[in-house]
Formats: sequence, structure tokens, C-alpha cells
Amino acid sequence: MADMTVAYSASHGLGEEQSIWYKLTPLLSQENPMQVLMALSDKYGGVVPINLKNHRIVLLSEPAHAERVLVSNADNYTKYFDGLRPVFGRSMITIDGALWQKIRAPQQPAFHPNMFEVYFPYLMSAIDSKMARWAKFASTGETIEMVEETWTLAAEMVCKALFDREMPFNPHFVFGQVKTYTDVVNHKSIRLKNVRGELEEMTQEEAAKAMEVWGSIPDTVIGANVLEQREKTLLKMLEAAEADPNFPEFDHRQVVDEMKQYLWAGTETTALTLAWSLYLLSMHPEALERIRAEARAVCGERDPEWNEVQHLTYTRMVIQETMRLFPPIWALIRIAAGDDEIGGHHVKAGDKVVILSYVMHHSPNYWDDPEKFEPERFAPERAKKRTKYSYLPFAAGKRACIGGALSQIENTLALVQLLRRFTPEYAGPVPAKIHATVTLCPKGGLPFRIRALS
Ligand code: HEM
Repeated sequence: MADMTVAYSASHGLGEEQSIWYKLTPLLSQENPMQVLMALSDKYGGVVPINLKNHRIVLLSEPAHAERVLVSNADNYTKYFDGLRPVFGRSMITIDGALWQKIRAPQQPAFHPNMFEVYFPYLMSAIDSKMARWAKFASTGETIEMVEETWTLAAEMVCKALFDREMPFNPHFVFGQVKTYTDVVNHKSIRLKNVRGELEEMTQEEAAKAMEVWGSIPDTVIGANVLEQREKTLLKMLEAAEADPNFPEFDHRQVVDEMKQYLWAGTETTALTLAWSLYLLSMHPEALERIRAEARAVCGERDPEWNEVQHLTYTRMVIQETMRLFPPIWALIRIAAGDDEIGGHHVKAGDKVVILSYVMHHSPNYWDDPEKFEPERFAPERAKKRTKYSYLPFAAGKRACIGGALSQIENTLALVQLLRRFTPEYAGPVPAKIHATVTLCPKGGLPFRIRALS
């Protein structure tokens, strides 16, 4: 059973030799890292033990393995977040056991479905800002970087809906800093080990500076102008936990760390999904037209109202299919607290297990024609027939994403609204290549030009 001491085990930097990211770099820096992982998984029957000097990494890619680690024997597996400590601090995503439960409880109500209606106008307002910006891009015809565009949108949504604040920082600069840090192969120690390719070298000082900028953001958000003095916001819930004399663990640092977590885990993932979906729609204009037709059928020429969002079913299926093909979190990492048996293989205490969601999402054992973009796979009748745990964009079990449902509403609204006014045209190489950082990114970004509809 996980306990609190495991939660705060000694940590190391992302680019240091002990880091699992460092160890996986020879695989991740391949031209097509996901193909390599798929080939390895196929060859070794879904369990790939990698024996290293002092310990073992076990790659897993079968739904039954995911079920074992995330659900039926979940207490035997603790989170692995070393290296990402500067990004996440000691926020709940990184900790285990009783303390995790205690920290999560006061925040849970912010993600109850009955809150989404309250968030709806703030999500729409963030999309309006994005549309104003895109109107300018449409008139200049300039090329834009889509992941930056969607990331700023997702961050504005989180600030407005969950914190009741305008976004008081320059997201392009701030997220650029975080990305430099989380892009594993940027780290100097890895580069010195002679990984292939043109790499930007990141010094310790630069890493520290990037994280200093990042660490100051939550207090900047707290100090920004309050939008509407709403009583029930996530930020208010965090502040109430801090003020609770019976909850000494929830100090100001905890508030700051939880906010860092939302400003990263709740934004980059959502943004990547939206950006990849626009890339896919650019390749599949018939699907794009279907989204427009659905929007017209559901709400005519006016903006959607809250009670109409549930009827935007095809649009939502496009989002779900995007997360299958390009799962933003392509690997879930855990440390085995005790021995276990997975797929006929012995897992030893201390082994790091890596569930390869990407490989499962692309497996012909669970998906017909897996490389094909086919949103209809997510139609309710077909989705029911899917093998359980073969689709894991939000993980599973008690540590599943707290914001999965919210992110799908955000992205459904964004797609409908943006596509009714604009046609984003992908202007990069086809197919786009993958850059496997902690998240699944497009290599070199996703350049687009924006065309306005008359
Ligand atoms: C497409 C969008 C998203 C994806 C793909 C995604 C994916 C994930 C995954 C895979 C995990 C589990 C990580 C692990 O087990 O190691 C997770 C956890 C989490 N996510 Fe998300 N996420 C998304 C959006 C969001 C949003 C919008 C929020 C909040 C605003 C959010 C907040 C969190 C938090 C707080 C956790 C930790 C939960 C816990 O440990 O109790 N995520 N997410």
C-alpha cells in the first residue's frame, strides 16, 4: 500500500541520469519514436522489460496490463513525477495514498458536471478573444503556430472559468519557458550523451530560470483583477483549504502548486488535442463540413447555448478520435511498490512500469484499420463494443484525470465556434512528425494559415 513517504521520495532533474526520461531518450529521439515502441511491443507480446544497470523499466501495452496497474492492483503502484517536480511542485497529480485523497477532496466539487453550466459563458468568452485574434491573422495571411494558439486559449479558459481571473501573464513567453524545460532532449546532460539531431542545449541556469518564471505565475494570477467575485470557484476552494485550521498540510505553497498543475496539466493537453484535431480536419475536409452542418442543425446561425452542447455529438467524436490517434499523455508511468505478475512476467518492487497508451490506441487487436481517422468509432453503439481499457487518454481508475469531461466541452465549443467562422489551413509537412516529450507534440510545431469564411 502506498504511503506518504513514497510520495516525497528523493527526486532528480528531468535531464539527470537517474531519470526515466533520460533513460528512454535513445528510443524517444528516433525519427519515429512511436513506430519503434509499437514494433518493440509487437515483437515482445506487449511486455518489454528493459534491464539497466541498477533497475528495470517495463513497457506495457495491453489493456489487461493497464487494468492491473491502474485499477485492480493500483495500490501497488505509485506515481513517478521525478524531474517534473519544478513544474508540478507537490500538487496532487504527483502524490499518493491518504495525503493525495485529502488534497483532492476540497477541489473535487469544481469538476462536478453541474459546475460546467457556470463555466460555459467564460469558455465562450475565451473563444471570442481567440476569434478576434484569428480575424487579424485572416486579414494578414500570416503563418501561425497552432499549438501556441490553442494553448493560450486553454489557459484563458482555465483562468476565467476556474479562477475567476483574466489571464494576467504572457502565455507565449511563460509556456515557452515550461516547454523548454519539459522537452527532455533539451537537457544538457542528455545532449552530451550524443543523442542524434539538432538539439537546443539547455544549461542548468536556463532550466532554473525557466522554472523561476513558472513558479511566480500562480501568485500573479491570484493578484490579478477578479472578474466577477463568484462564490464557488476552484481558486476559492483552494483558498478555503488553506484557511482551514484543521488542514495544516494545505498551506500557501500547496495552493501555488495546485495552480501550477492546473495551468499546465489542464492546458497543454487540451491545447494539443485541439491543435491535432485541426490538423486532422485539414486533411479531412468532409469531417470539417460535418461539424459545420451539425452546428447549423443544432443552433442555426447563432452561438450555442448551454443546453445544446450535448447535441454536438459528431464534434465530440472528432475530439475523441483525435485523442486516440494523438494521445497527449502517450505514456503513464508508475513505480512498483511490491512484486507483481503482469502478462506472465515478474515485476519486481522498484521497477518502473510504463503503460504505452499510444501503442494501445494504434493496435490492430483493438481497432479496425487503426491508422484511419474515423470519428464514428466513438458513436455510442460502437464505443460500447470496445475492449475495456484499450482507450486511455485520461488514464483510468482512481487516478484518472479530474478534468477529462471539462476538456471535452472546452474543445467541442472551440471547434464549433472557430470552424463556423474560419478555415484553418495546415501549412506544414504531411504527415506531421511526432516529437515525444512528456506530452505528444508535433515535431517543429503545426504551422497554419487562417482563412475567414465570407
Ligand atoms: C485533453 C485534455 C486532457 C488530457 C488528455 C488529460 C490527461 C490526463 C491524464 C492521462 C492524467 C493521469 C496522469 C497519470 O496517471 O499519470 C491526468 C490527470 C490529471 N489531470 Fe488531466 N488531462 C486533460 C485535461 C485536463 C484538464 C482540463 C484539467 C483541469 C483543468 C486536468 C487536470 C488534471 C489533474 C488535476 C490530474 C491529476 C488527478 C489526480 O491525480 O488526482 N486535466 N490528466
